[in-house]
Order: sequence, then structure tokens, then C-alpha cells
Amino acid sequence: MVKFLTLDDVDVSGKTVIVRPDFNVPIDPETREILDDTRIREHARTIKELVEKGAKVVIIAHQGRPGEPEFMESLEKHARALERALGRPVKYVHDLYGPEAKEAIKALKPGEVLVLKNVRTFPEERKKKSPEEHAKSELVRELAPLADVFVLDGFSVAHRAHASVVGFAAVLPAVAGRVMERELRSLERALEKPEKPCIFVLGGAKAEKCVDIIRYVLENNIADKVLTGGLVGHLFLKAKGIDLGRPSEEVLEKKGLIGLVDAMKELLDAFPGKIEVPRDVAYEIYGDRGEVYVKALPVDHPIYDIGLETAEHYASLVKDARSVVVSGPMGVYEKPMFLEGTWRVFNAVAKSSAFSLAGGGDTVAALKTLGLFDKFSFVSLAGGAFIEYLMGKKLPGVEVLEKAAEKAGK
Ligand code: 3PG
Repeated sequence: MVKFLTLDDVDVSGKTVIVRPDFNVPIDPETREILDDTRIREHARTIKELVEKGAKVVIIAHQGRPGEPEFMESLEKHARALERALGRPVKYVHDLYGPEAKEAIKALKPGEVLVLKNVRTFPEERKKKSPEEHAKSELVRELAPLADVFVLDGFSVAHRAHASVVGFAAVLPAVAGRVMERELRSLERALEKPEKPCIFVLGGAKAEKCVDIIRYVLENNIADKVLTGGLVGHLFLKAKGIDLGRPSEEVLEKKGLIGLVDAMKELLDAFPGKIEVPRDVAYEIYGDRGEVYVKALPVDHPIYDIGLETAEHYASLVKDARSVVVSGPMGVYEKPMFLEGTWRVFNAVAKSSAFSLAGGGDTVAALKTLGLFDKFSFVSLAGGAFIEYLMGKKLPGVEVLEKAAEKAGK
């Protein structure tokens, strides 16, 4: 179990607290407005607690990556979204660690909240460095002396060894915010001594990562069974020597996934009976849904979903589980005709009495489309960090929190 300090372990009254949430949200390419403020609303709960305890709150966050469409230098819109979520005024300065930002921080009164400019406008931010190296950056050198405590709330940025994630923890007392705390405790519940049987449902297109996840959870006896769908399922079918048909094979080739078939074969050999692959699949034929047993493949039409028999089989396995982890949809759920497989499996997870955990951008979007977002025990707001955690990787943001707890003698 990861040992870290939380908001319960620090006195923030009258103190200046730097908070690193993850305000990275989907942006409308035309209007540049925020399309979904779920992350901001979640972090608002941590910020509200700090405000109510009389802290002076300074928020350092990012939006997009420089050079990519979702990048925005200003976080003014994020500050306004936070204001709505908090129901109280939020200040914004278009500066990060210059005189304007520093003056605004010094002028904060207990209970006030200030959002700074996108931290990724600072070129050193995204360099992968140790906490001690990042602590020497201008960002940390200029801002840390003005603060008393660092709160890392963005679990979804914890896989990044960035200045704003790890640098402040090297020089300030560092604790986890409520979002971080909930994410870590929920992930632990599913990955460290999960209640058995434990089932992993893996789909979508991130097949390379799935190979590592499957190896990790089966080698370490975390999962008792892995159910596969989406392109991950396609690759396992190929590993079993099944020819999917030209259109689906082309998708795997285009996405550069064919090279993973050998790794899938190794997994099937190493863990017999543990990995379930589709028994039937659904394909598009002249605007309709066609179904075929995998024995009868190939088909000359694109495969977009697991078949209904597979969906029912997966649903029955999930029914008897005590823990279920979901990462990736079972098919192209964006096409209404092909969300059936994802719906049947995800709905079975939602209805089961198991502890159910889901995460990753596509999975969260599918859960929202299906109206199941609130029906799981816990939905992680993280993408890459969630996947890396499932792969058994140590996340730099979590490591700095552990170190801070050690330093504090906890
Ligand atoms: C996310 O959305 O997963 C986090 O904000 C991390 O973003 P990044 O992949 O651009 O570092």
C-alpha cells in the first residue's frame, strides 16, 4: 500500500498552498470553449476544502501540449469553470512566475483562489527530470518560497516527471489532494490483493499497452481472467491463427499493430485458459450489422464489435466476479449499431455486486455515451496514468508523495 500524506495531515489555515490539479479538458476546435468540465469539477472539491479551511490557494495547471490543437496559453476559461463549480470568485493572472504572478500570490487573502497561466508555456516544464533537478528550475525557485504546502491532486498527471508535478515536492511539504487520494485508494483496491475472482476487461486500440497490462496482472496473480475485445481481441484472434478478412487486417496493418501478434501468442501459451477471446464478431454489411462465428471467418467486411454470444458469455463471467477492472471498449461504440457489445459487457459490470473500476479516455467516453458513468464503483479520470498504473509502473508523482511521507516520518 502506498503511504502518502493527505489534507488531513497538514494545517493549511492562513497558509499559501500550491495545488497541481489536472485541468486538461477537451476543447471545441472552433469556439475554443471547454467541452467537458468533469475534471475541473472534481478538483473543485479539493479546492473547496482548502478554501473552507482558510488556505490561500494557488493553482498551477496545464491545457494541451504546445503545438497541438488543444493547447491554450491562457487558463482564464478554466478559472471561470472553477468559479462556477466553487460558487465563489476565482482570480486569474496571465503570468506564471513573473512579477505579476508573484504580486498576485502575495496579495491573496485566506479563502481566495488564484489560477496562473498554463504551466506548459514554461519550456522546462515538460523536460523529464528528477524532483531535485526540477526544483532548480525558475518555476520552482520563484514560486516555492512564496508557498507553505504543495498539494498534488492530479493523479492523471502523476505519470509525468514534469516540473510542476515533482519539482515542488522536493522543497515543500507535499500531500495528496482528495482526487489523488481517491484515485490511489481505488486503484489499490483493484490491484493489490483484489477480492477474487478478479476480471480484467480489455479492449480498444491501445493494444501494445494491453500486452504489458495482461502480462503484469496474470504474472502477479492479480487477475483470474482477462476478457478481450476491440482491436486487442482482433490481435488475439490472429494469434490463434484466425484470418479476420482483408478490411480488418488492413486496420491492424495501418495502425502498426500486426507486430504484436507474436506477443499475444506468447501470452496465450504462458497463461492457458486465462485469456478469453471473442467467439463471434459483428461486422458492417451494406449499412447493417452482420454476425459471424470466428470459425467461419474471414469476412470481406470490417469487423466493428464482439458478437452477441461473446457479449453474453463475458457478461456471465463478470456476474460472478468480486472485482472488475475495465479499460477499453469492446468495439466501435461511436457507431450506434456497434455499441451493443460494449453496452452488454459494461452494463453487466455496472449491475454486478463486484468492486468495479474503469479508466482511460475512450472508456470514460463510452461510459458517458451509455449512461453508465455513475454506475461503476469508481471511474478514474486519468488516461495515460491509469494505463501505466495497470502495467505495474511506478509513477513519478506518486513516488514524490511517498518520499514526502517518509520525510515526515509517516
Ligand atoms: C491527461 O490528459 O492524460 C493528462 O493531462 C496528461 O496529459 P499529457 O499526456 O499531455 O501529458
